[in-house]
Amino acid sequence: MLFSLFARKSLAAIQAQAEDSSHGLQRSLTGMNLLLLGIGGIIGAGIFVLTGQAAAQYAGPGIAISFVISGVACAFAALCYAEMASMIPISGSAYTYAYATMGQLIAWIIGWDLVLEYLFGASTVAVGWSGYVASFMEKNLGFAVPPFLAQSPLAPPSTWHIGGAHVASVLASAGIDVPAALSHVQLTQLHFGWQKTGAILNLPAVLIVALCTWLLYLGVRESARLNNIVVAIKLTVLGLFLVFGASQIMPENWMPFIPENTGQVGHYGWSGILRGAGVIFFAYIGFDSVSALAQETKNPQKDMPFGIIGSLLVCTVLYIAVSLVLTGIVKYDRLNVPEPIAVAVDAGGAALTWLSPFIKVGAIAGLSSVVLVLLMAQPRILLSMSRDGLLPAGMAKIHPRYKTPHVMTVYTGILSAAIAGLFPISVLGELVSIGTLLAFVIVCIGVLVLRIVEPQAHRPFRTPCVAAVSILGALSALSQMAFLPLDTWLRLIAWMGLGLAIYFFYGRRNASIQ
Ligand code: ALA
Repeated sequence: MLFSLFARKSLAAIQAQAEDSSHGLQRSLTGMNLLLLGIGGIIGAGIFVLTGQAAAQYAGPGIAISFVISGVACAFAALCYAEMASMIPISGSAYTYAYATMGQLIAWIIGWDLVLEYLFGASTVAVGWSGYVASFMEKNLGFAVPPFLAQSPLAPPSTWHIGGAHVASVLASAGIDVPAALSHVQLTQLHFGWQKTGAILNLPAVLIVALCTWLLYLGVRESARLNNIVVAIKLTVLGLFLVFGASQIMPENWMPFIPENTGQVGHYGWSGILRGAGVIFFAYIGFDSVSALAQETKNPQKDMPFGIIGSLLVCTVLYIAVSLVLTGIVKYDRLNVPEPIAVAVDAGGAALTWLSPFIKVGAIAGLSSVVLVLLMAQPRILLSMSRDGLLPAGMAKIHPRYKTPHVMTVYTGILSAAIAGLFPISVLGELVSIGTLLAFVIVCIGVLVLRIVEPQAHRPFRTPCVAAVSILGALSALSQMAFLPLDTWLRLIAWMGLGLAIYFFYGRRNASIQ
């Protein structure tokens, strides 16, 4: 009985399952698709929202150092994911790696934990998306003409007027108010419990989840194509911010680069940089979601490491550059706002004002691809769990025409939409971080365990200095977990308690390996 809790799925059986083409999923994704899906899943609320808040509250301009620290910690996990994903190219990701290394119970725990990362993650970003959309509709439906186009034939002629005002100023100030009752969550957190806000539902958040779910139902290739376009938009917008913003940097904004600690731990100084690293960890979440697509990738052995490590590398460089320009344009203490990049652009004066709506379009596009990619990963993990008997087999169906796990995709979408519609972003965001960090700990340990128990297995990608990388990866994830608030830990424990109840009442009894 006790033994079966730790029953491992053999590596040979998993690899045979990965090669079995009757699983119904279609191998249609290339390495470039994975790279762009990784970037699509990573760049979102973290850089567009949290960076400014973390700079203002904890790290000052030193937030760029926080990005380096958090990026290095993620790189350890990314190297471990890359070895696992190329070696065990199956859609279950960390769940399957744990089944091969630490047995059924830990596999269940990690599979259940990944729901926090992907399903709750999609809901969190959908709430952030809703905030940006509401702000865009209210303030930025119009477009200011960039100064460098003001004298060109593209600018509206000076004789064009609407209601006595020049058309350019009417366009620049256009907006629609979004009713608060339909764009805010129902519940807000108090110290002890929850309070209703009076709002009915966060409708835009529900709608973006529904739209992504529908797209994912129709096909992974179609979803990847849309993701390519969205990633192009967000990279262009961040590129514009870097190019035009760089000329507005005032070096005195970077002085002091690491503001002196106020006497309170985490409030500037080096402890503030570490706390900043913990907060902006959220910005890196998503590179691992690529690993859930192993069974839909043409050449997973080669493409998985490329997609996982490549997307993390691109985003790390971009994040460091954006945080430097952001804190160079505007003094860090002004950045504690929901749209810090837009604030920096406004602070840059006429030379940058025209960029403001583009930044919001970039953020809206950016956040939608994060929702898409996270909602793409979740059903594929659950699919592997139900194929192993830990969840009902009916959930593992693949659509005969679209070749997608459509049943799981719909369940995931409904749950994610309900969570996004009801709960506030702060509570969701911390749960997502703790859930992801726990997955990183288990994957990092798993790589080392598998090197010991299956030393001869074919490893298309080998984590360099595996002992050091996996131990440092696990320790850095654990230390970031330690800094999260007690409430978040209690919620994680409650979530895991619910998961264990389901495992002992259903999963264990129905698992294909008893
Ligand atoms: N990394 C993702 C974001 O920042 C989750 O939105």
